[in-house]
Amino acid sequence: MRGVNRKGLWLIGSWVLSLSVLSFSAFANEGAAGSKKYEDFERPRACASCHRDFFQQYQQAMMSQAYTHHWDEIEYFALAVPHADRNPKLAGIKSDCNGCHSPLAFLAGDVPPPKPEKGSRANESVSCDFCHTVRGMNGEPPHNFNYISSPGKTKYGPRPGLESPHHKTQELAFLRSADFCGQCHNEKSPYGVWVKSTHLEYTQGPYPKMGLRCHDCHMPVAPGRVSAMSKADSPMHQHLFYGAHVDAKIRGAVELRMHADSSEVEPGDTVKLSLYLFNAKAGHKIPTGSVEDRQLWVHVEAKDSQGRIYHLPVDKKGFADEEATIASNKLAWFDLGVAMGLEDFPGLPRDGLPEGDRIFRMPYFNPDGQLTIMQWYTSRLGTDYRIGPLETKVETYTFKVPANAPLGKMTVHAALNYRLLVKPIGDFLKVPEEESRDRLINDTSTSFELVD
Ligand code: HEC
Ligand code: HEC
Ligand code: HEC
Ligand code: HEC
Ligand code: HEC
Repeated sequence: MRGVNRKGLWLIGSWVLSLSVLSFSAFANEGAAGSKKYEDFERPRACASCHRDFFQQYQQAMMSQAYTHHWDEIEYFALAVPHADRNPKLAGIKSDCNGCHSPLAFLAGDVPPPKPEKGSRANESVSCDFCHTVRGMNGEPPHNFNYISSPGKTKYGPRPGLESPHHKTQELAFLRSADFCGQCHNEKSPYGVWVKSTHLEYTQGPYPKMGLRCHDCHMPVAPGRVSAMSKADSPMHQHLFYGAHVDAKIRGAVELRMHADSSEVEPGDTVKLSLYLFNAKAGHKIPTGSVEDRQLWVHVEAKDSQGRIYHLPVDKKGFADEEATIASNKLAWFDLGVAMGLEDFPGLPRDGLPEGDRIFRMPYFNPDGQLTIMQWYTSRLGTDYRIGPLETKVETYTFKVPANAPLGKMTVHAALNYRLLVKPIGDFLKVPEEESRDRLINDTSTSFELVD
């Protein structure tokens, strides 16, 4: 338990008891569901007049759309809710998704909440008053919305001794810790598998030792006013919460460099290219978070002196589940039909990418051993082939240059791209194009001469 004052200790004791009783249910901590009312929390608008910039920043961030965003709405209402109704083992997820995506709805026991178009308070998603009235967490490590929520007059903040006409303020160190974020950025499936582990990846990486927290990269420090009533600017963590949805955040997150093993090659010979991919910017693995949805892949092409293009498939390494990391358009994702109750669902092309390209991925498998994007239906994870923080992956490409290739310069180009959602799935579920469009992360080129 972190960040809890003495007064709350016996309360927590009873929490722990109820937790152990509930630990067989889908997600831990269901005890909190239905313990509060929407009216216990203030609306974000209520903070806007005094905390203007934070309000505007937050409005732009995914945090304010965690319940209303198109793909969240579709996954919850078209897949998770019907799946939970069909499979008793999954009954709890109808409520539990909102433990993180709409904490007010979860705490109010509103299951399922009205759809976003109804404009209910569930739409507030992860709101100002929710975050600033969390007092601590239940148990370690932080995961599955194990927060202790205590809405009311007191707003917890990073500084001691501030006065406000609207509320009381109290300093809370827990708010400044990565654990605070981990409460929602680590998730265990009903099968006990870590299906989201951004915080765990971070704690096992190099950044905590350097004193860098989630906040330092996602809420960068810049001068501003704590409130419109403050007398002067001071350095503070801006409420940007920007991640993979923001091109300016992911662009350049991985750096690329490539060379051939020889600078002069004869047509008909074989040349080996080595490509280095360095995760220079992300404090966790990339991709992280909704790993089941994401595709980070590298496409390599050579171009000869007459402009002819040769697509180079990646060299295989031979590790377990490697198949899932080499782009293929074989049919997959059969369990979408199970969730939606579609008889004879034929499946969808697996990747919608050029076959043979390397995908940096950790595959999720359902109880039938099939690839799935439904993290709640995940009972096994495959080999983790993502790029860790400050890690460099090396891919090689063995290129047998055609005997009839023209002499002169052969240029090889590598492009690393990102999709938030596997495109064939996005198209099938009618998720707006924005979610599955290609985002260029970085690229690089090298060349060698074809000589007699
Ligand atoms: C996801 C949780 C989260 C949400 C949502 C959120 N905040 Fe914060 N807020 C934080 C954290 C964490 C800090 C402390 C950062 C630090 O100093 O390390 C903070 C700091 C603050 C501060 C103090 C700044 C300072 O340096 O003194 C104010 C004021 C504040 N938030 C107001 C708001 C308002 C208003 C909203 C809604 C428009 C909001 N917050 C939404 C997590 C959140
Ligand atoms: C009437 C103006 C007003 C409103 C409305 C208001 N606040 Fe504040 N808030 C302040 C003032 C003033 C301070 C102290 C600023 C200072 O001393 O520089 C403050 C401080 C804070 C702090 C503590 C910051 C720290 O550094 O520890 C938090 C957290 C906070 N507000 C959150 C909220 C939230 C959440 C809402 C909406 C539910 C809200 N406030 C609404 C005026 C307001
Ligand atoms: C109450 C749960 C909760 C807490 C606490 C929380 N988050 Fe989040 N966060 C979410 C949810 C849910 C989303 C997903 C929004 C979406 O895509 O629907 C999200 C999205 C994000 C994103 C945007 C990701 C993207 O793809 O663009 C970032 C960055 C982020 N959170 C960082 C943080 C940081 C840093 C903290 C701690 C200061 C934090 N979060 C605390 C629930 C939470
Ligand atoms: C050293 C800086 C750094 C630190 C520390 C860091 N991040 Fe990130 N984070 C990034 C960058 C850069 C990206 C964009 C590239 C990517 O998607 O990985 C990102 C992406 C994300 C995303 C979006 C992933 C997606 O696919 O939607 C989330 C969510 C997130 N971070 C949460 C966190 C949380 C929670 C922590 C702390 C446990 C944290 N980050 C620590 C730099 C950082
Ligand atoms: C433990 C907290 C937690 C639980 C429980 C949870 N989520 Fe999430 N979800 C998150 C966070 C945090 C993110 C953002 C991660 C990232 O950016 O990659 C996210 C991202 C998503 C996304 C991707 C959004 C996008 O735009 O790419 C979808 C869709 C989603 N969740 C749906 C669900 C559904 C449906 C459930 C219930 C079956 C659920 N989530 C349960 C925390 C949670």
